[in-house]
Amino acid sequence: MALSLAARRARQHFDERAPLYDRELGRREPSYRRVLQAMLWLLDMPADRPAHILELGVGTGNQTRLLLRQFPACRVTGYDVSPAMLARARRKLAPFRGRVKLVVGDFGAGLAGGPYDAVLSANAIHHVPRPRLGALFQRLFELLRPGGQVVIAEPFWPGDEALGDLYWKARRRALAAAGIEVRDHDRALARQSSHGGGHQVTVEEYLRRLRRAGFAEVDCPWRELGRGIVHGRRPRS
Ligand SMILES: C[S@@+](CC[C@H](N)C(=O)[O-])C[C@H]1O[C@@H](n2cnc3c(N)ncnc32)[C@H](O)[C@@H]1O
Repeated sequence: MALSLAARRARQHFDERAPLYDRELGRREPSYRRVLQAMLWLLDMPADRPAHILELGVGTGNQTRLLLRQFPACRVTGYDVSPAMLARARRKLAPFRGRVKLVVGDFGAGLAGGPYDAVLSANAIHHVPRPRLGALFQRLFELLRPGGQVVIAEPFWPGDEALGDLYWKARRRALAAAGIEVRDHDRALARQSSHGGGHQVTVEEYLRRLRRAGFAEVDCPWRELGRGIVHGRRPRS
């Protein structure tokens, strides 16, 4: 199937950035590892229960590896549109072969398989054009087992230029306090915004759309300077 413009842009950007992605994270995102871990703490399932997890936007496989380590009985199916990012993920996840299936594809256009016990996505869904978010959440709802959870981490748009500016400045101060070169941060962010991805959606809109797709227990359990985690659960009956 032909890729949408947004997916083609994301592929081009991440194919180019793949060699630097893991190195740049430290400069750009001091909360990155904390967010990935908090997402897993939200998974409401025994670590030793066989489960099938869907991951959207696997990237270089950082979240996938954490998941496979902490839930030793789970299997993961992961989608990413960038072959170069997935090539790195494949190398990183080689010790877990047999428990991971990686698919090169646009998760905004067609997701197959399931039923899944949970859907995870970190820093990827903002690449899906805003008008297609509702259809994506509807599809995730259909693919989840009753009781299954969706956990999404994103940079959210605060909904206001002044707030956006305030959070941006606060993030720069937080980086400086963590000893991170602010010039590196600027450079990394400039690259990030140059790929045309990053649709501006507020956390409130995510919550509204998740509820509209049928999810219950919809909330934003973590939020920090423009970043957030949202959660929803397909009702048990
Ligand atoms: C910022 S990276 C995040 C990777 C990983 N989840 C992490 O947190 O490190 C975003 C990833 O989403 C992928 N992506 C963006 N849009 C996509 C789409 N429509 N379908 C599949 N993958 C997509 C990109 O190729 C990229 O690898």
